[in-house]
Amino acid sequence: FLKLGIMASGNGSNFEAIACAIAEQKLNAQIQVLIYNNPNAYAAIRADAWNVPSVLLNHRKYTQREILDEKIVETLQNYDVNLVVMAGWMRLATPVLINAFTNRIVNIHPSLLPVFKGINAIEQALGAGVKIAGCTAHLVCLEMDSGPILIQAAVPVLPEDTSATLHARIQIEEHKILPMAIELLAMQ
Ligand code: GAR
Repeated sequence: FLKLGIMASGNGSNFEAIACAIAEQKLNAQIQVLIYNNPNAYAAIRADAWNVPSVLLNHRKYTQREILDEKIVETLQNYDVNLVVMAGWMRLATPVLINAFTNRIVNIHPSLLPVFKGINAIEQALGAGVKIAGCTAHLVCLEMDSGPILIQAAVPVLPEDTSATLHARIQIEEHKILPMAIELLAMQ
């Protein structure tokens, strides 16, 4: 049975999509905890609304990324998590976290990997002039945005697109493929 630990930095619409998929019985899982790093992340308010415990681990309070990750691992273990989901988590993970959950961390990234890794993937896609963009759900490994791909979805880039309109179109697909990717990992 999937016991999810979700990590988010901002709005948390992907957290919401996972919670909805569980509520609608499209995903057989339970959210144990939300970990967030920005005190004003809206994801925390969503977690409250779903009665999911949330833990703030503010990266600004840690001098080393490894120490933050140790705290994250400890929190995930305390909540008995067996699958970690990075749902808009905007921090680079260190081996401390990745090795504690080998092949048990899923990330959603707003590009058709392996292109446009890192931050500003949407701006990178607009800058490159691609006509098709999308999102990728993948396993997290030591190299950023490079682990095995689980599911991708593509969307058109329209001539009048801004990063906001393209991101909105991509997010509709993220909200479908992230719960599906999580469900795939239940079978392992
Ligand atoms: C999502 O579009 C996700 O793909 C992206 O952040 C957004 C979070 O949205 N993640 C990355 O860029 C990771 N490098 P949300 O907070 O509404 O779920």
